[in-house]
Amino acid sequence: MKIDIFTFNRQYEDIKDEIRGPLEEVIKSGQFILGKDVGLFEQAFSAYCNMKYGVGLNSGTDALFLACLACGIGKGDEVIVVPYTYIATLLAISMTGAKPVLVDIDEETYNIDVSKIERKITNKTKAVLPVHLYGHPVDMDPLMKIAEKYNLKVIEDCAQAHGALYKNKKVGSFGDVSCFSFYPTKNLGAFGDAGMALTDSEEIKQRLISLRDYGRKGRYEHVIKGYNSRLDTLQAAILRVKLKHLDEWNEKRRKNAHLYTKLFKEKGLDLVLPYEADYVKHVYHIYVVRIKNREEVVKQLMDKGIRTLIHYPIPIHLQAAYKELGYKKGDFPIAEKCCEEVLTLPMYPELGEQEIRYVVDTFSGFL
Ligand SMILES: Cc1ncc(COP(=O)(O)O)c(C=O)c1O
Repeated sequence: MKIDIFTFNRQYEDIKDEIRGPLEEVIKSGQFILGKDVGLFEQAFSAYCNMKYGVGLNSGTDALFLACLACGIGKGDEVIVVPYTYIATLLAISMTGAKPVLVDIDEETYNIDVSKIERKITNKTKAVLPVHLYGHPVDMDPLMKIAEKYNLKVIEDCAQAHGALYKNKKVGSFGDVSCFSFYPTKNLGAFGDAGMALTDSEEIKQRLISLRDYGRKGRYEHVIKGYNSRLDTLQAAILRVKLKHLDEWNEKRRKNAHLYTKLFKEKGLDLVLPYEADYVKHVYHIYVVRIKNREEVVKQLMDKGIRTLIHYPIPIHLQAAYKELGYKKGDFPIAEKCCEEVLTLPMYPELGEQEIRYVVDTFSGFL
């Protein structure tokens, strides 16, 4: 049996008839840039997340970058974030000229350890940027209390958590701005790069609209130095169709994750399984376990046709790109330990029960 870490073909087979019509309409209309589907998808996705406004952008990275700019973050400011995320989260902060200030993660949820935030706040801190990693929401209540106490902006990175719930409320509905990626492998993925920022603030929405489109006011009048970061109309048309399936796909991911967990528990193996706090609905963007002899297991699984990945092998404070922050090994021990032990197993809505059983059986054969 061959089991890839992600697959696109199965989902495409399911929705190809639904997508063809909308794509053809965009092509016939010639409205490739900020066409009708962009606005319609912005409305649909912001409504799905219970937010007033959505601004379609060309990637999750740009959503974070422009959200920071729209919140007035720039040179001289500090933004609190984790060393254990995809590097794009930090790059977006750095692109504004602000400095990422790191806080270690919680070993169970792999999200920011909220109890360690306060001691990192200085008079330069402008914002806190929680990342809902792997699809498990951050503990938002205490985080929002700290943000309120110190008058900090909250920018949510929801790139891995479309549709996840924290105390029955959608992630992306807590912050001043929340940012989504629709990178193809995401729970809601486009057929290319795409992203969106959501907000309830009219002012932030207007800034984002201007920033994504060369800072323009009229056709050739430019009031600020903006960027070219618009959500592509063809991607918006695809995402509108896919959004209708998101809840059903997330349920399938949850079912698959729970089957993995049940089967692993039955085997009684020495590995750490994903945690799901009782106040969240995890959407299992990826299914991550922790083991000690990872390299050996990865190799053996590969030999048996099972492809795995590591999210993430190097914490950001130890990446060459972030030498300037001056951190060293040992500064964030939980993030470092997780980087050494985590292993991502195949996870997608279309993964079949037999495939999951094969992964678990093969895995337990080695341990
Ligand atoms: C947590 C996180 N933040 C930000 C990003 C950046 O999104 P994009 O690839 O759409 O720029 C990603 C994914 O790639 C991500 O996983």
